[in-house]
Amino acid sequence: MITRPGRVAGKRVLITGAAGGLGRSMARRLAEEGASLALTDLDGGAVAALAREINADHPEQAFGYAHDVTSEADWVRVVADAARDLDGLSVLVNNAGIGGDLVWAEQDTVDAWRRMQAINQESVMLGCKHALPHLREAQPASIINISSVAGLAAAPGMGAYNATKAAVWMYTKTVALECAKAGWDIRANSIHPVFIKTPILDPFVAFAGGDEAKAHERLARGIPLKRIGEPDDVAWAVVYLASDESRFITGTELKIDGGMLAQ
Ligand SMILES: NC(=O)c1ccc[n+]([C@@H]2O[C@H](COP(=O)([O-])OP(=O)(O)OC[C@H]3O[C@@H](n4cnc5c(N)ncnc54)[C@H](O)[C@@H]3O)[C@@H](O)[C@H]2O)c1
Repeated sequence: MITRPGRVAGKRVLITGAAGGLGRSMARRLAEEGASLALTDLDGGAVAALAREINADHPEQAFGYAHDVTSEADWVRVVADAARDLDGLSVLVNNAGIGGDLVWAEQDTVDAWRRMQAINQESVMLGCKHALPHLREAQPASIINISSVAGLAAAPGMGAYNATKAAVWMYTKTVALECAKAGWDIRANSIHPVFIKTPILDPFVAFAGGDEAKAHERLARGIPLKRIGEPDDVAWAVVYLASDESRFITGTELKIDGGMLAQ
């Protein structure tokens, strides 16, 4: 591993869902700020390509791994491989997640509910469980769980998503308190973005007849800053929480919502 200067110099970061809109942006900003990266996603080819792009600018800084976050066996393999390739792990970003269709309670199905829980919620427990032994060896360490404003405020038709993201919010606090009680310098915090321009918003674009600008304008209506977010709006928060700049912050939630939940 080559250590480069920056706000997260020497940090060894595993990001799940790194082929997606937010994950890519996190990977790029963290790489620029000196972190080395284990990029994981269901789409192993996409994270391998992203790692090659990053390594073209910063040699030997990023590695890609195929990873289904719902599989405990995958977590065991990926965490071991990442710790080997990065020479340890000091930051875990549980970012992989899905949105899903708007479904009201009476129409919801057990299959859809369980799928959402497995990908958005159970994965976070598996990530913390299997990364913690490595994080303990690399203190000061940080766990960053990507929840949503939907984990703090409900919306009709979003029962499963609301429930998983609220669970991630509260579970993060439990992990933060466990680490503090054990005397480990491992912080755990959750991030709560509002609408951010990534493929997860595709259903809203489809609903607007494929007109992306119209869809984004509609989504921005309830946001005091009058726009939806860019992936970097979240990535910079991840850099902060991964760095030692946030060394006294644990068990908290960071809203990235243009003021929406301040209303
Ligand atoms: N973009 C937003 O508006 C927004 C708002 C709030 C919260 N979030 C959260 O941010 C996170 C990232 O979302 P995004 O906007 O980048 O979405 P995205 O769809 O662009 O990326 C999600 C990534 O997760 C991966 N993934 C899905 N299932 C997986 C699995 N089982 N195992 C491994 N990887 C899997 C996908 O392949 C994809 O690359 C999600 O947890 C999402 O809920 C996004």
